[in-house]
Amino acid sequence: MSEQQINKRCFLPDEHASIDWAEQLASHLKAPLVLTFSGDLGAGKTTIIRALLRSLGIKSAIKSPTFSLVESYRCPDFVVHHFDLYRIHHEEELEYIGFRDFFSGQTICCLEWPEQAGHLLPQVDVRFKIKMQGSGRALELNGLSPIGEKIVLAMQGQTSYSDDHSSL
Ligand SMILES: Nc1ncnc2c1ncn2[C@@H]1O[C@H](COP(=O)(O)OP(=O)(O)O)[C@@H](O)[C@H]1O
Ligand SMILES: [Mg+2]
Repeated sequence: MSEQQINKRCFLPDEHASIDWAEQLASHLKAPLVLTFSGDLGAGKTTIIRALLRSLGIKSAIKSPTFSLVESYRCPDFVVHHFDLYRIHHEEELEYIGFRDFFSGQTICCLEWPEQAGHLLPQVDVRFKIKMQGSGRALELNGLSPIGEKIVLAMQGQTSYSDDHSSL
């Protein structure tokens, strides 16, 4: 499958914009999905995933899985697994936690630092890249599967945030 068939860029001027944007994204999600979030520490990956989870109806505390590697949340129709792979240095560490078993027909997996998974990373549906830009954030979406392309197209039609044309 060729990569980056459908892309979208936008600019999120503040944290509120990221939360609002994630709420729009949440309305287009259903299992199974693999979503990856790349960007430096403090780029805003957890901010977006936390807002996604809130929008999906999670009322309990949403911790960053920096130390636990993964936090799981039960929604009515699927389970969301939120990974932070920053501390993974060898793919075998992921084998120990049964990484592959988290990806099933009933799960939405959101991964921060997906690069750390190496060849264990399964087919990604949408790749998000976040970069600091001034006091806001530039966000790029790549739809990498047929369902991922649909999600990116839906966000093109829905988002109220302006297109960002600078290079990421
Ligand atoms: N669109 C945005 N514009 C400006 N600041 C943002 C935006 N989104 C998030 N932030 C801020 O940037 C920081 C991001 O932290 P976090 O989401 O934990 O980053 P990461 O998970 O990428 O390390 C938080 O302090 C948050 O308030
Ligand atoms: Mg984070």
